[in-house]
Amino acid sequence: MKKNKTKPTLINSYQKLINISCDLASELDLNILLTKIVNAASEVSDSEEASILMFDPAKNTLYFQAATNLDTGLKRGLVVPLEESIAGWIVKNQKPIIVDDPQEDKRHFNSIDNITNIKTDSLMGIPLLSKGKVIGVLEVINKRGGKFTQEDQDVMLALGAQATVAIDNSRLFLQSDLIGEFVHQIRTPLSALNAATHLLKSNRVDDQQKKKMIDIMEAEIEALTDMSSSFLDLARLQSGRKQYSVTDFSIRELLTECYDIFYSDTQHQAINFSIDVPETLPRITGDRKQLKQAFTNLLNNAVKYNHEGGEIVIKALAKKKQVIISVSDSGMGIPEDEQSLIFEKFYRVRSHRDQVPGTGLGLSVVKQIITDHGGEISLTSEVNVGTTFTVTLPTDK
Ligand SMILES: Nc1ncnc2c1ncn2[C@@H]1O[C@H](COP(=O)(O)OP(=O)(O)OP(=O)(O)O)[C@@H](O)[C@H]1O
Ligand SMILES: [Mg+2]
Repeated sequence: MKKNKTKPTLINSYQKLINISCDLASELDLNILLTKIVNAASEVSDSEEASILMFDPAKNTLYFQAATNLDTGLKRGLVVPLEESIAGWIVKNQKPIIVDDPQEDKRHFNSIDNITNIKTDSLMGIPLLSKGKVIGVLEVINKRGGKFTQEDQDVMLALGAQATVAIDNSRLFLQSDLIGEFVHQIRTPLSALNAATHLLKSNRVDDQQKKKMIDIMEAEIEALTDMSSSFLDLARLQSGRKQYSVTDFSIRELLTECYDIFYSDTQHQAINFSIDVPETLPRITGDRKQLKQAFTNLLNNAVKYNHEGGEIVIKALAKKKQVIISVSDSGMGIPEDEQSLIFEKFYRVRSHRDQVPGTGLGLSVVKQIITDHGGEISLTSEVNVGTTFTVTLPTDK
């Protein structure tokens, strides 16, 4: 009787595993991939929650990267002590483990139950091994109706092996994809610099032309510098290794700070700049510095793609469990057929490319930050009338 009962479930688990493996192999977005892996782990092991912790050998730390119970990217980066955690034990011993009563186990990292609000009653974890090195730990907790078995562990090890290959692939792809694009993008400013240097060296230019060349060089160097720093921001955000530093803060104060930063820029262009944010706006939980970066990028665009005597308005309002923030401008606008493309890396609206300098990375950074906060960004725009970007962020209130 017992034999008949375990066999079909095991086959079911492996069948599930085969289906999942195909899915994993084709996923190249690291965060989506890790989410799929944790969902698969909890499904095949029939457990309540699953998580992936990544190991950073440079810092010798373990941190949460994905979990079934983390609906936003925010708890990502939460560090788990190597010395006082079961995950740390797995890294050090490079072995899988089943713990029937973690509360009684000295190695269990107790604070995690408070942070996640879930009591760990049973736990199974395996190391993710790539070329003999631990890159992370896959853990499942709270087996439904029983204890984790040796069979569960075998299925998890098989899933872990698939997951590691997929993680390696996606990391390589991410690097080559981003680096390839970056190299492509720096070609134009580099060839402009190259041409200018040759001309200057040839001594065939008069003083006035020389000055012009140097101005061009200065502008190209500035473009390269901007591109490098935006590119680094984006690479960090997209690698999934970005560790957010989360606090509870007043979004109203943050928006007012952004307003102050851009005030003098707007006055130079006689832009009518206003802010309309109610004092009652609820606080939000998030990485303040990153969100400030996001709104700064939006305002930077609102100024850059505007004109003398134009207008910019920052507005915010609270809705049930949400804060809605908009940045509107009366600038050049974005043609309808290009609106869906502007969040892509390096994309710049065709008609703006020769008129306004930029790298086309600002909005990719904004989108990544907002989605990692569990929020959304959208826009409405009309050419020569203006553009409104609307950001929705979740709150507890
Ligand atoms: N407020 C806006 N009004 C009109 N066009 C905009 C606006 N914001 C963005 N765009 C268009 O979307 C493109 C992408 O914006 P993004 O901020 O990503 O890059 P950028 O401004 O060109 O460069 P940077 O990386 O320096 O921000 C811009 O090149 C521009 O064509
Ligand atoms: Mg920009």
